[in-house]
Amino acid sequence: MEKELISRILEMAFYSPSSHNRRPWYVIVVTSRELLEKLSYAKPHATPLKNASLALVICADENISDVWIEDSSIFAEHVQLAATNLALGSVWIQIRKRMHDENMTAENYVRSLLGIPSNIKVLCIIGIGYPAEKKEKHRKEEIKELKSRVKENHFSNLFPLEL
Ligand SMILES: Cc1cc2nc3c(=O)[nH]c(=O)nc-3n(C[C@H](O)[C@H](O)[C@H](O)COP(=O)(O)O)c2cc1C
Repeated sequence: MEKELISRILEMAFYSPSSHNRRPWYVIVVTSRELLEKLSYAKPHATPLKNASLALVICADENISDVWIEDSSIFAEHVQLAATNLALGSVWIQIRKRMHDENMTAENYVRSLLGIPSNIKVLCIIGIGYPAEKKEKHRKEEIKELKSRVKENHFSNLFPLEL
Protein backbone atom coordinates (compact mmCIF):
# COMPACT_ATOMS: atom_id res chain seq x y z
CA MET A 1 0.00 0.00 0.00
CA GLU A 2 1.29 3.44 -0.94
CA LYS A 3 2.78 5.38 1.95
CA GLU A 4 0.58 8.34 0.97
CA LEU A 5 -2.60 6.37 1.79
CA ILE A 6 -1.19 5.37 5.18
CA SER A 7 -0.33 9.01 5.86
CA ARG A 8 -3.87 10.11 4.95
CA ILE A 9 -5.41 7.55 7.29
CA LEU A 10 -3.16 8.59 10.16
CA GLU A 11 -3.68 12.28 9.51
CA MET A 12 -7.47 11.78 9.78
CA ALA A 13 -7.03 9.74 12.97
CA PHE A 14 -4.80 12.40 14.54
CA TYR A 15 -7.87 14.68 14.59
CA SER A 16 -9.49 12.30 17.11
CA PRO A 17 -10.74 13.84 20.33
CA SER A 18 -8.97 12.79 23.53
CA SER A 19 -9.46 13.58 27.20
CA HIS A 20 -7.92 16.99 28.02
CA ASN A 21 -6.60 16.83 24.45
CA ARG A 22 -3.66 14.83 25.82
CA ARG A 23 -3.33 12.65 22.70
CA PRO A 24 -1.54 9.75 24.42
CA TRP A 25 -1.41 7.66 21.24
CA TYR A 26 1.48 5.78 19.68
CA VAL A 27 1.10 3.86 16.42
CA ILE A 28 3.39 1.25 14.92
CA VAL A 29 2.91 0.88 11.19
CA VAL A 30 3.71 -2.71 10.30
CA THR A 31 4.47 -3.27 6.63
CA SER A 32 6.88 -6.23 6.88
CA ARG A 33 5.17 -9.44 5.66
CA GLU A 34 7.20 -11.46 8.15
CA LEU A 35 5.98 -9.32 11.07
CA LEU A 36 2.38 -9.33 9.76
CA GLU A 37 2.46 -13.12 9.77
CA LYS A 38 3.91 -13.21 13.29
CA LEU A 39 1.31 -10.67 14.49
CA SER A 40 -1.45 -12.85 13.04
CA TYR A 41 -0.48 -15.44 15.71
CA ALA A 42 -0.77 -12.99 18.62
CA LYS A 43 -3.84 -14.91 19.78
CA PRO A 44 -4.55 -18.67 19.82
CA HIS A 45 -6.65 -18.50 16.63
CA ALA A 46 -4.86 -17.02 13.63
CA THR A 47 -6.31 -13.64 12.72
CA PRO A 48 -6.82 -12.10 9.23
CA LEU A 49 -3.65 -10.00 9.63
CA LYS A 50 -1.69 -12.52 7.57
CA ASN A 51 -3.48 -11.33 4.43
CA ALA A 52 -3.65 -7.63 5.31
CA SER A 53 -1.61 -5.07 3.36
CA LEU A 54 -0.51 -3.52 6.60
CA ALA A 55 -1.32 -3.32 10.28
CA LEU A 56 -1.50 -0.37 12.60
CA VAL A 57 -0.70 -1.34 16.18
CA ILE A 58 -2.62 1.12 18.33
CA CYS A 59 -0.89 1.96 21.59
CA ALA A 60 -0.98 4.67 24.23
CA ASP A 61 1.23 5.98 27.02
CA GLU A 62 -0.65 5.27 30.24
CA ASN A 63 1.41 7.94 32.01
CA ILE A 64 -0.01 10.61 29.70
CA SER A 65 -3.67 9.74 30.19
CA ASP A 66 -5.55 7.74 32.82
CA VAL A 67 -8.27 7.19 30.20
CA TRP A 68 -5.89 5.95 27.52
CA ILE A 69 -8.30 3.08 26.72
CA GLU A 70 -11.06 5.49 25.68
CA ASP A 71 -8.59 7.80 23.90
CA SER A 72 -7.01 5.02 21.92
CA SER A 73 -10.34 3.28 21.15
CA ILE A 74 -11.61 6.49 19.59
CA PHE A 75 -8.33 6.78 17.67
CA ALA A 76 -8.65 3.18 16.41
CA GLU A 77 -12.21 3.80 15.29
CA HIS A 78 -11.12 6.95 13.45
CA VAL A 79 -8.53 4.81 11.65
CA GLN A 80 -11.31 2.41 10.59
CA LEU A 81 -13.58 5.24 9.43
CA ALA A 82 -10.71 6.83 7.48
CA ALA A 83 -9.89 3.47 5.84
CA THR A 84 -13.56 2.99 4.87
CA ASN A 85 -13.62 6.52 3.49
CA LEU A 86 -10.70 5.58 1.21
CA ALA A 87 -12.57 2.41 0.06
CA LEU A 88 -10.21 0.17 2.04
CA GLY A 89 -11.24 -2.68 4.33
CA SER A 90 -10.18 -2.87 7.96
CA VAL A 91 -10.49 -5.18 10.94
CA TRP A 92 -10.04 -4.58 14.65
CA ILE A 93 -7.97 -7.28 16.35
CA GLN A 94 -8.36 -7.05 20.11
CA ILE A 95 -5.06 -7.32 22.01
CA ARG A 96 -5.74 -5.78 25.44
CA LYS A 97 -7.02 -8.39 27.88
CA ARG A 98 -6.41 -11.26 25.46
CA MET A 99 -3.93 -14.12 25.84
CA HIS A 100 -1.32 -15.37 23.36
CA ASP A 101 -1.16 -18.75 25.12
CA GLU A 102 -1.70 -19.90 28.68
CA ASN A 103 1.50 -18.22 29.87
CA MET A 104 1.76 -15.03 27.87
CA THR A 105 -0.62 -12.15 27.21
CA ALA A 106 -1.23 -11.13 23.60
CA GLU A 107 0.02 -7.68 24.65
CA ASN A 108 3.40 -9.04 25.78
CA TYR A 109 3.70 -11.11 22.60
CA VAL A 110 3.18 -7.94 20.50
CA ARG A 111 5.37 -5.93 22.87
CA SER A 112 8.37 -8.24 22.51
CA LEU A 113 7.91 -8.65 18.74
CA LEU A 114 7.89 -4.87 18.15
CA GLY A 115 10.11 -3.67 21.02
CA ILE A 116 7.36 -1.68 22.75
CA PRO A 117 8.45 -0.22 26.14
CA SER A 118 6.50 -1.14 29.30
CA ASN A 119 4.78 2.25 29.84
CA ILE A 120 3.23 1.98 26.37
CA LYS A 121 0.04 -0.08 26.44
CA VAL A 122 -1.22 -2.00 23.42
CA LEU A 123 -4.96 -1.71 22.77
CA CYS A 124 -5.53 -3.41 19.44
CA ILE A 125 -4.24 -3.93 15.94
CA ILE A 126 -6.13 -2.55 12.97
CA GLY A 127 -5.49 -4.63 9.87
CA ILE A 128 -5.99 -2.69 6.64
CA GLY A 129 -6.16 -3.87 3.06
CA TYR A 130 -8.02 -4.07 -0.21
CA PRO A 131 -11.21 -6.08 0.48
CA ALA A 132 -11.15 -9.50 -1.24
CA GLU A 133 -14.90 -9.90 -0.81
CA LYS A 134 -17.94 -7.72 -0.30
CA LYS A 135 -19.48 -8.41 3.10
CA GLU A 136 -23.26 -8.54 3.52
CA LYS A 137 -24.60 -5.42 5.17
CA HIS A 138 -26.11 -5.85 8.61
CA ARG A 139 -29.85 -6.49 8.25
CA LYS A 140 -32.06 -3.57 9.22
CA GLU A 141 -34.09 -6.01 11.38
CA GLU A 142 -30.99 -6.66 13.48
CA ILE A 143 -30.50 -2.95 13.95
CA LYS A 144 -34.16 -2.38 14.79
CA GLU A 145 -33.85 -4.87 17.67
CA LEU A 146 -31.55 -2.36 19.35
CA LYS A 147 -34.39 0.14 19.69
CA SER A 148 -35.15 -1.25 23.15
CA ARG A 149 -31.72 -0.05 24.33
CA VAL A 150 -32.65 3.61 23.97
CA LYS A 151 -34.45 5.21 26.90
CA GLU A 152 -35.92 8.62 27.51
CA ASN A 153 -35.40 10.49 30.78
CA HIS A 154 -35.54 7.30 32.89
CA PHE A 155 -34.14 3.83 32.27
CA SER A 156 -37.65 2.34 32.50
CA ASN A 157 -38.98 4.53 29.72
CA LEU A 158 -38.41 3.67 26.06
CA PHE A 159 -37.45 6.43 23.66
CA PRO A 160 -39.77 6.24 20.62
CA LEU A 161 -37.02 5.72 18.05
CA GLU A 162 -38.10 5.81 14.41
CA LEU A 163 -36.03 3.22 12.56
C1 LIG B 1 -13.52 -3.93 20.71
C2 LIG B 1 -13.56 -4.81 19.47
C3 LIG B 1 -12.80 -5.98 19.43
C4 LIG B 1 -12.79 -6.77 18.28
N1 LIG B 1 -11.96 -7.84 18.23
C5 LIG B 1 -11.86 -8.56 17.09
C6 LIG B 1 -10.90 -9.60 16.96
O1 LIG B 1 -10.10 -9.83 17.87
N2 LIG B 1 -10.87 -10.30 15.81
C7 LIG B 1 -11.69 -10.02 14.76
O2 LIG B 1 -11.61 -10.71 13.71
N3 LIG B 1 -12.61 -9.03 14.83
C8 LIG B 1 -12.70 -8.30 15.96
N4 LIG B 1 -13.59 -7.23 16.04
C9 LIG B 1 -14.48 -6.98 14.91
C10 LIG B 1 -15.92 -7.38 15.24
O3 LIG B 1 -16.01 -8.78 15.30
C11 LIG B 1 -16.84 -6.78 14.17
O4 LIG B 1 -16.77 -5.37 14.25
C12 LIG B 1 -18.29 -7.21 14.39
O5 LIG B 1 -18.41 -8.59 14.17
C13 LIG B 1 -19.25 -6.48 13.44
O6 LIG B 1 -18.86 -6.63 12.11
P1 LIG B 1 -18.64 -5.36 11.18
O7 LIG B 1 -17.59 -4.50 11.83
O8 LIG B 1 -18.20 -5.94 9.86
O9 LIG B 1 -19.94 -4.66 11.11
C14 LIG B 1 -13.61 -6.43 17.17
C15 LIG B 1 -14.38 -5.25 17.22
C16 LIG B 1 -14.34 -4.45 18.34
C17 LIG B 1 -15.14 -3.15 18.35
